Amino acid sequence: MANWFRACSLNELPPGGTREVAAGGRVIALFNVDGDIYALDGVCPHAGGPLGEGRLDGSIVTCPWHGWQFDVCTGRHCLNPDLVQPSFRTKIDGNEVFVELP
Ligand code: FES
Repeated sequence: MANWFRACSLNELPPGGTREVAAGGRVIALFNVDGDIYALDGVCPHAGGPLGEGRLDGSIVTCPWHGWQFDVCTGRHCLNPDLVQPSFRTKIDGNEVFVELP
């Protein structure tokens, strides 16, 4: 059964912003792409870098450790389409951002 976890307030994640949160025993990376909120597993599959602390350009996040890039809308690595970072559904309720975790 899926569970919705409150991740942050919308004020804490403005358009173009990123955020790292802990929820449900996981590290989650949150991204605001033009008002739409996306959530990925926050641990970079390369060497464990914090994707939620990466730079967001449009829908592309760059890992701050070694520069791997992912499309936050799909989780797909920009150079290796077979590499897909797990993603999670999100919803906004009032001013709160929620993430659905398994
Ligand atoms: S840990 Fe993310 S690119 Fe190396």
